[in-house]
Amino acid sequence: MRNRLLAVFPAAALAGLLLSPCASFAADDDGGLATLRGAPIQTSIEASGDALKKAVESAPLERDFTQQPPLVSHAVDNYPVTRNFNKCMDCHSWENYRKEKATKVSQTHFRDADGQELANISPRRYFCLQCHVPQVDAKPLIANTYQRPASVR
Ligand code: HEC
Ligand code: HEC
Repeated sequence: MRNRLLAVFPAAALAGLLLSPCASFAADDDGGLATLRGAPIQTSIEASGDALKKAVESAPLERDFTQQPPLVSHAVDNYPVTRNFNKCMDCHSWENYRKEKATKVSQTHFRDADGQELANISPRRYFCLQCHVPQVDAKPLIANTYQRPASVR
């Protein structure tokens, strides 16, 4: 397990993550928000990020594409995932999900990188929040015409 985790998170990559400034948007010539290709984004740079801080606690929102990791339908602030302890699995493990009325982790989460089926959660699926994010009421920054495919409608 330990070697696997180290393989997933090589120290250099981790250091890079910690040191690099996390800029998701570029600035355009006027100092406003711009996409990476320089197209201006029609939103105020002062727009409050508050909407992103409060998870919407309701039934899970519909998925937008077939392979989407489902959004987390509750806050996660108090659910730590550390090297030795995974709070999420207290409720989402196959052992506990019925008692907790939670969805059991997908069977795909028991497969290791070589396609081998494991008895417990695969190291590749251990850090749940890498893929599952709390659902929030966030409007798209750029209007778009994306439609859910029929398979998830
Ligand atoms: C105290 C129990 C508990 C803990 C701890 C917990 N959850 Fe949940 N989770 C639930 C319940 C209950 C639901 C709601 C299931 C429903 O409404 O169908 C849920 C829903 C979800 C869903 C949506 C599932 C779906 O059916 O679409 C995801 C994803 C999820 N949780 C991920 C996480 C992650 C990641 C963590 C750890 C950071 C976590 N949960 C910790 C109880 C818990
Ligand atoms: C590498 C990305 C990734 C990680 C890490 C990950 N998941 Fe998922 N999860 C997914 C994807 C993609 C799906 C939907 C497709 C599938 O079922 O595999 C999913 C599905 C789920 C579902 C819904 C299952 C269902 O039957 O609808 C739950 C619950 C869930 N994950 C919980 C967790 C928990 C808890 C963890 C951490 C222990 C975790 N996941 C880690 C990508 C991930």
